Amino acid sequence: MTSLAIAANGLRKSYGEKVVLDGVDLSVPEGTIFSLLGPNGAGKTTAVKILSTLVTADAGEIRVGGHDLAADPQAVRAAIGVTGQFSAVDGLITGEENMLLMADLHHLSRREGRRVAAELLERFDLTEAASKPAATYSGGMKRRLDIAMTLVGDPRIIFLDEPTTGLDPRSRHTMWQIIRELVTGGVTVFLTTQYLEEADQLADRIAVLHGGGIAAEGTAEELKRLVPGGHVRLRFTDPDAYRSAAAALRGVTRDDESLTLRVPGDGSQRELRAVLDRLDAAGVEADELTVHTPDLDDVFFALTGTGTVPAQPAQPALPKEAAR
Ligand SMILES: Nc1ncnc2c1ncn2[C@@H]1O[C@H](COP(=O)(O)OP(=O)(O)OP(=O)(O)O)[C@@H](O)[C@H]1O
Ligand SMILES: [Mg+2]
Repeated sequence: MTSLAIAANGLRKSYGEKVVLDGVDLSVPEGTIFSLLGPNGAGKTTAVKILSTLVTADAGEIRVGGHDLAADPQAVRAAIGVTGQFSAVDGLITGEENMLLMADLHHLSRREGRRVAAELLERFDLTEAASKPAATYSGGMKRRLDIAMTLVGDPRIIFLDEPTTGLDPRSRHTMWQIIRELVTGGVTVFLTTQYLEEADQLADRIAVLHGGGIAAEGTAEELKRLVPGGHVRLRFTDPDAYRSAAAALRGVTRDDESLTLRVPGDGSQRELRAVLDRLDAAGVEADELTVHTPDLDDVFFALTGTGTVPAQPAQPALPKEAAR
């Protein structure tokens, strides 16, 4: 059995009348990436703040890094690093000074502080900019500095609250690479995001926070199986070919106007081959063929919209648009 870096049971938190977390359970095995996904105001930051001892929960049992959070918050603090949703970087001082400030907070000696700062600045490609005021940094550089600062204390568990919000695609990919490398080094990452692709790319497990609770949890693949949306789309220009194909394929949805057929399925190679075989047998060829597999967007909209969540993997007959 792998041990858990984070284990929370029955987490509750209200602000006044507003119930933000209404009995949330979370468990994150050591050395994995866990992603908490949710729309604005779902309570992601609240969860991060509670798990990182910055805010007290109203109820719930929490263990982080093997320590009981209520009984020994100091031990939890020593084991974790937090990169908040809003940057902790001080723009008026240089990147290096920001790092040295963190080293001081972690009671590193002057010499050790300088060594660690230089090493991390190098690792995050900030050596050149190290002596410039952080206010002059780009968004991506500031985020990298933020994470570098978080790593000064060599935490085993890292909380990243929306680490790539506002970053351009290149910076986002750089950040993903950084996060993957952290995990390769044995670190556990608890990540919040609004980007489904990000959770899909990075996370071993994903939980969707909605309405105060976990609406669904699993691997990206497991979550995708929860919602309909997968299909092969075939478009024709020749009405005869279109009709022949519609007759040859089972369970298709027809759009006679655009001469388009949708064949529900999971987008697997085996299914695709079956479709192609049937078209071949009928002697028709589609002018355009696209495969649509449900992505986390489908899951997100299905789970956090007004629609109900299918308890069983539903018949994947609905097109993506209808699933929303
Ligand atoms: N200190 C506070 N006092 C009162 N209400 C708060 C406080 N902090 C958060 N809330 C409320 O709790 C709810 C959840 O907020 P939270 O910041 O955790 O959401 P989030 O999922 O991080 O959202 P976002 O994606 O916008 O960052 C919101 O309705 C917010 O207004
Ligand atoms: Mg937030």
